[in-house]
Amino acid sequence: MNSINDELELIRSLYSEKRVSGLTHNFCRYPARFSPEFARETILQFSNEGDYVLDAFMGSGTTIVEAIANGRNAIGVDINPLSCFITKVKTTPLSKRDKEKILEWVDRINFVQSFDEGHSHASDGLKHIPDEFKNILINLTKTIDTFEFPRQKNFAKCALLRFAQWAIDCRKEIPQINVLRGQLIKQVNEMLDGIDELVFTTQGKGIPKHHITGRRQLYLGSLDDLINNQVFSRMQSKVRLVLTSPPYPGVHVLYHRWQVNSRRETPAPFWLAGLQDGHGEAYYTLGGRSSSGIKNYFTRLREIFNSVRLFIHPDAIVAQLVAFSNPDTQLPAFLDSMRLAGYEEFKPFSTLNSERPNRLVPNRKWYTNIESNQHASNEVLLFHRPYY
Ligand SMILES: C[S@@+](CC[C@H](N)C(=O)[O-])C[C@H]1O[C@@H](n2cnc3c(N)ncnc32)[C@H](O)[C@@H]1O
Repeated sequence: MNSINDELELIRSLYSEKRVSGLTHNFCRYPARFSPEFARETILQFSNEGDYVLDAFMGSGTTIVEAIANGRNAIGVDINPLSCFITKVKTTPLSKRDKEKILEWVDRINFVQSFDEGHSHASDGLKHIPDEFKNILINLTKTIDTFEFPRQKNFAKCALLRFAQWAIDCRKEIPQINVLRGQLIKQVNEMLDGIDELVFTTQGKGIPKHHITGRRQLYLGSLDDLINNQVFSRMQSKVRLVLTSPPYPGVHVLYHRWQVNSRRETPAPFWLAGLQDGHGEAYYTLGGRSSSGIKNYFTRLREIFNSVRLFIHPDAIVAQLVAFSNPDTQLPAFLDSMRLAGYEEFKPFSTLNSERPNRLVPNRKWYTNIESNQHASNEVLLFHRPYY
């Protein structure tokens, strides 16, 4: 950040209430995702073209997409296979033939047939989904076998994820068949445009289309477990910016489930993406919401940032957006964990009245009881540097 203008621009992006749009950001409505504007501004102000940017809790890959689109290299880590799958699809360019095949596929889908010929006894993977929509999803996923290449299949699976989430998640009734069909076609076209926009923007930074996938490295796991991995040891000191948003302590956010009828949880996203499920909420939230879970959160946070420190550049900056269910005790505990992991906090804003920028989260799904959890949607922006 070089000037007051930069500072104001970053604050503006943090408080922006624009809906998520542009590039491939709308491939999935992942819970608690970054605003792309904020991710872009942070990347532009705290790293240079060609630098490596790390997101140790990458979620739906907002940091990764923005880093690539702005000429950086990106490293993303997440414990959730859905996160790796979605981020991979969001950053995989398609050929002209891929696009033709995908458009033919969506055009051929026969929703009426899907409706009639289902198998409502389907697996637990579609638990709690109403039978008629379950049939549609089963038949839609079968059509994916007709694709010739994995990147086409993955794109189609991701399109079905987005479509099914739109039709099910936090909704009381599944829309009519003609509405469903129109929506799937619209979403697939938007997603193809998103890939084109990513390729176009990246080319504008001098990166040819066939180099895009080489600009990102995505890892499934927790960084403290991955650190011994040879790839990571080769990365030593390359990362100049860590831009991330860890799970929020004590806040009920579901990273691995959708909610049907605003209440019942379904593992359908794993089933649709063809991924292994098998873990509970605590696994994806660094401990869960119990008091022992929250204690565990701060220990895990320290271990992970300890590992991050081992392979970032000594001058790297760590920018984090995090919300707390109880900020009075959890913010100090969070700052303590960072200090014990070898970081010092710094406050780059000279124009703010409050000590650290914080904001109420707009347009977010929290699956949380807001009445008993007043602070759950209040995020704080924190900056740290490693000390040696
Ligand atoms: C707040 S979300 C990140 C959202 C992301 N910034 C985006 O824009 O989509 C937190 C993520 O941390 C992941 N996570 C939880 N525990 C983890 C761990 N030990 N290592 C890596 N990722 C983890 C969750 O699976 C979730 O995707």
